[in-house]
Amino acid sequence: MNKKEKFIIRGLGGKRALKGRVSLNGAKNSALKAMAGAILFEGKVELNNIPNTEDVHTLNDILVDLGAKIQWKDNDPSSKTLYIDASTMNKTDINSEKAKVMRASVVLTGPMLARFGKVSFPAPGGCVIGARPIDLFIEGYKKMGATVRLQDEIYYIECPKLKEAEINFEKITVGGTETLMMASVLISGKTVLKNCAKEPEIVNVASWLNACGADIEGVGTDTITIVGTGGHLLKPQNSYRAIPDRIEAGSFLFLGALTAEELYIDNCNPEHLSLVIDLLKNSGVSIDIVDDKTIKITNSQNVENKSYRAFNVTTKEYPGFATDLQSPLVTFLTQCEGESAVTETIFEGRFKYVNDLVDLGARISVIDNNKAVVSGPTPLYQSQDNHLTAHDIRAGFAIVLACLIAKGNFTISNIHLIDRGYESLETRLRAIGADIRRE
Ligand code: EPZ
Repeated sequence: MNKKEKFIIRGLGGKRALKGRVSLNGAKNSALKAMAGAILFEGKVELNNIPNTEDVHTLNDILVDLGAKIQWKDNDPSSKTLYIDASTMNKTDINSEKAKVMRASVVLTGPMLARFGKVSFPAPGGCVIGARPIDLFIEGYKKMGATVRLQDEIYYIECPKLKEAEINFEKITVGGTETLMMASVLISGKTVLKNCAKEPEIVNVASWLNACGADIEGVGTDTITIVGTGGHLLKPQNSYRAIPDRIEAGSFLFLGALTAEELYIDNCNPEHLSLVIDLLKNSGVSIDIVDDKTIKITNSQNVENKSYRAFNVTTKEYPGFATDLQSPLVTFLTQCEGESAVTETIFEGRFKYVNDLVDLGARISVIDNNKAVVSGPTPLYQSQDNHLTAHDIRAGFAIVLACLIAKGNFTISNIHLIDRGYESLETRLRAIGADIRRE
């Protein structure tokens, strides 16, 4: 990861001139959990369609530090196939520095407690989008009989034998659902998780675990029941394959609507995008679902770049509008006719990028830190300071999109944050005609 790298972008000045195809990667927020799930297995597992992104490499490093054997097929991350053998793991203290960088590392604690009976890890710091506590994880572990100690910002969790429990999440938590689901896979007895998250990424991981001997029911609904194997590790008789990244797909839908004459999005799953597609169609975007893996966006060139219609959105847990698409959505809404209100209900600090859009000419006001009111359409242009910064993965994409539709030349720093969730973004954008390079 080179923290000094920047994107240099020449904007399209409102023209919808890009043309071609982008192919989606495997879902980061599924792949990371499957990598953690490898700890539940007696031998080497095969994970396919793994995105070659920073977060995957960070989790790789953490697992290697714990003693696991990890290898990309042909030693090449572009193979998208990863082999993990957890049988050589010889440590239960998770590397603090690496784990602090990536909150998803907390998901390791479930499988590690299940297999080794203890784990220590750094209290995940908040990040730019919010405090991101782990109280719901800790409460769940205590219900399963674990002792939890926090000392000098390190959690020490012990439980030689996790026991069955009924856990009712006070808040819907994606990571909490996945982590306690995996913690329960090897126990003796039945655990019931209530008020669960229903994301397709959780279904993706659970289906793989079930294909290898786990007994998990109800994933994708708000109640998940896990009957443990009684201490037997899972057998790697089936490989895992990450589902297409629906957040990447949604990001490219917004990009295509504002910058492309014609854009195909390949290797996607339109079923996971129905809400976004309906909202964009109602706004006037021409979207065709070509087949079960391909979406096409067209902007008829003979008609003056007519504005799309504004609309309101409230972010919600799946199947509601994804919080991870909130920032690309707001960039899109700056180009829509009328006033839009976007209400963020999942994280408490996810509008920090708005100031950058306002600097580019957008008309947005943030109310009570959880609602952005956008008035459009506003042309975006280079202000005196054309240097912008990515605040988090998704806000970084939103800023790239804003620079692409603006008139002028722009530099975006902190792009390693974008690399955490979007593999080779500039390469894929250049392939459809965008003037963007990495320096
Ligand atoms: C996952 O984070 C995703 N990350 C996030 O994507 C995504 O934004 C989020 O789910 C919501 O969809 C990964 O899967 C790696 P949560 P997670 O636990 O699991 C509160 C991206 O850009 N909460 O569902 O950490 C929490 O503070 C990232 O790819 C507690 O209060 O999210 C938040 O307000 C960003 N206590 C809400 O719940 C807890 O113990 C939802 O968080 C746990 C969570």
